[in-house]
Amino acid sequence: MKIDLNNYFPNYQLIDCGNGKKLEKFNNIVLIRPEITATGNSQLSIKEWKNIANAEFIETSKNQGYWDILKNFKQTWFINYQNEQININAELRLTNSKHIGIFPEQVLNWLFIKNISENYPDMNFLNLFGYTGLTSIAAARFSKSVTHIDSIKKVVDWTKINAKNSGIDNIRLICEDAPKFVEREIKRTAKPPTNLNNKYDAVILDPPPIGVGANNEKWILNKMLDKLLQNIALILKEKSFVIMNLYSHSLNKNYVNEIIHKNFPKHKVKLNEEVFSLSKYGNTISHSTFIHLEN
Ligand SMILES: C[S@@+](CC[C@H](N)C(=O)[O-])C[C@H]1O[C@@H](n2cnc3c(N)ncnc32)[C@H](O)[C@@H]1O
Repeated sequence: MKIDLNNYFPNYQLIDCGNGKKLEKFNNIVLIRPEITATGNSQLSIKEWKNIANAEFIETSKNQGYWDILKNFKQTWFINYQNEQININAELRLTNSKHIGIFPEQVLNWLFIKNISENYPDMNFLNLFGYTGLTSIAAARFSKSVTHIDSIKKVVDWTKINAKNSGIDNIRLICEDAPKFVEREIKRTAKPPTNLNNKYDAVILDPPPIGVGANNEKWILNKMLDKLLQNIALILKEKSFVIMNLYSHSLNKNYVNEIIHKNFPKHKVKLNEEVFSLSKYGNTISHSTFIHLEN
């Protein structure tokens, strides 16, 4: 599926991409960042990019590097997303990885949550690998409670700031290894009397290919996804929905379909597609495979 994110998220624009990089606008700040899926040629020259951009991330090793400031600007700024009840005020920062606190393509998940939420009054929502919490904030508008899990304290603190700036106070923030949290939740749910409060109407997971838990636990997507999905199935309510973002270049599609059907046999696949962003000039980058399941 090819989409122009600017139509969904007016304060964000993919201006151009190519030669392993992307040129993006977040509110009024323009950045150049590495992008492995930007395989073709860009429309504008790198000189033109640098004339427009405020900063470029120079990668020195995988996901590590520094920002070359091209035009002075306040390096903590905000981007707002609004759609009916959803109001997200996200603080953006230049970090020493190329990430800045937002994955704008997640807007597709925010809209799915908004559209489906009327079937889930008093929703209990779980966000695993939640990063700076923008999906937790989107879900919070439609939920009784959102539980947000990430292993890095800095991003959990960042989520707290984003939630406050977005007027949200029903997010439970937990700094923990995501698979460990789910295992503990299974035990808590199984304790008699069965405590339905620990079961969820919805789970979203956006696991990185490789990650680290709060106590240095190793996360390896290809090896550990199946077990994590098995465990998630045990903490879902009978009627529920699941959202996943999976990086297709590191996982075999047939295998993903197999483990989805094995672990969520009663859920229907509403979406299972690689999403590409169209730039202003029509060239594309790939995000990941978006999977939406509902029973
Ligand atoms: C790709 S980001 C998620 C993006 C997020 N869904 C969003 O929309 O902004 C991956 C996140 O997983 C976290 N993470 C990595 N390994 C983890 C683990 N074992 N347990 C919990 N969180 C982990 C990272 O700290 C990072 O914030």
